[in-house]
Amino acid sequence: MSTDTQKIIDESFQYLMKTYSPQPVVMDHGKGAYAYDTSGKKYLDFAAGIAVASLGHAHPAVLKTINEQAARMITCQASYATKEKLHAAELLVKTSCFDLVYFSNSGTESVEAALKCARKWAYEEKGEECNEIIAFHNSFHGRTYGSASVTEKRHVQPFFGPYLPGVHFATFNDLDSVKALVSDKTAAIIIEPVQGEGGLTPAHPSFLRSLRALCDEHNICLIFDEVQTGFGRLGTLHAYQAFACCPDCQHGEPNPANHQIIEPDIACWAKGMGSGFPVGAMAAKKKFGEAITVGTHGTTYGGNPLACAVAATVIEEMLKDGFMEHVHAVSNILFKGLNDIRRSSNKITDIRGKGLMLGVDTVFDIKKLLGALQSNGLMATQAGKATLRLTPPLILSEGEAKEALAVIEKTLSEMDE
Ligand SMILES: Cc1ncc(COP(=O)(O)O)c(C=O)c1O
Repeated sequence: MSTDTQKIIDESFQYLMKTYSPQPVVMDHGKGAYAYDTSGKKYLDFAAGIAVASLGHAHPAVLKTINEQAARMITCQASYATKEKLHAAELLVKTSCFDLVYFSNSGTESVEAALKCARKWAYEEKGEECNEIIAFHNSFHGRTYGSASVTEKRHVQPFFGPYLPGVHFATFNDLDSVKALVSDKTAAIIIEPVQGEGGLTPAHPSFLRSLRALCDEHNICLIFDEVQTGFGRLGTLHAYQAFACCPDCQHGEPNPANHQIIEPDIACWAKGMGSGFPVGAMAAKKKFGEAITVGTHGTTYGGNPLACAVAATVIEEMLKDGFMEHVHAVSNILFKGLNDIRRSSNKITDIRGKGLMLGVDTVFDIKKLLGALQSNGLMATQAGKATLRLTPPLILSEGEAKEALAVIEKTLSEMDE
């Protein structure tokens, strides 16, 4: 490591709170699926800000929008309508099953908004006592108090307590464990369609279907936290659209002709929605979204013209012909390639995920593996206790996917158990 690099890292941590352990490199700039450090070393960016840089770095359409909109207007008081806010909200509504949108600036804010919306709806619909939330083990929904309260980690971070009361944790993909927690007090169920931080476990479509039926039966609000999975990450614009299923799926004999998409009542969005620009949203079906009324929720920055213009550009890029087909094609290359490496090296113990959100368990210590991959020119992240998480930009080319597989294969072959 150059002395310059070490100096920047040391000095940064002199001023910064220690929310993260330091990386041994200093990032400088990015282009497409690559990121470059200050020494000029090039990395395939399979972290992408943890599923954020959906269109990669320095995407020309995003740059154009930022430049033009920043020159026109960055901010205005949130109560004003703008063409940019209208355009982004309309795109979100027209591409989804939702009727109303609330703009935020981050994932955790979208989750906070969803919890408040669901709780207020339940209070008015079912009474004051109906204020409990069911979340899942291994969940991650953010770091502010509401979202931290429905996040598994609260169990190992007692020092932040007391958390939001009335939160119960069920087992992911286990309907009986959810049923056991449902009562007249249940206002909402919140779930990630693919658990991200928890270790890249996809929900079974039939599980989501059963959750939908359970919520309909008991008049419970179903919230999908699509913060990590949304905006093309699973090969569909919205994550819930990637889980079509039919009654037969439950018995292991899917009948695609009868497949239906399972619609949540509320979705939480952020990350890939701005391809790196901070923007998020909470979207809801009419009867839930209408619970948010003047003065009950809001934000200074949320829905600013610049953020909305960028979000609209990102969505329009993703709606272009062939975009999602490309995500599926590159995803297939990565899943197949990783399975080939698994067979030939026997150093991979499990491969999970969906679309361009892949989790790989190996026989190696995850920190050592991430360090070795970084040295060999691939940046990735950890999920769960020991899972290698791969969340590349969605514009990753087939050639770049093969290049990444070669780096992973080489790195695994160089490492000693
Ligand atoms: C599923 C999920 N929800 C919420 C969040 C919180 O998002 P943010 O870090 O933008 O607040 C994350 C972040 O990783 C996430 O993966």
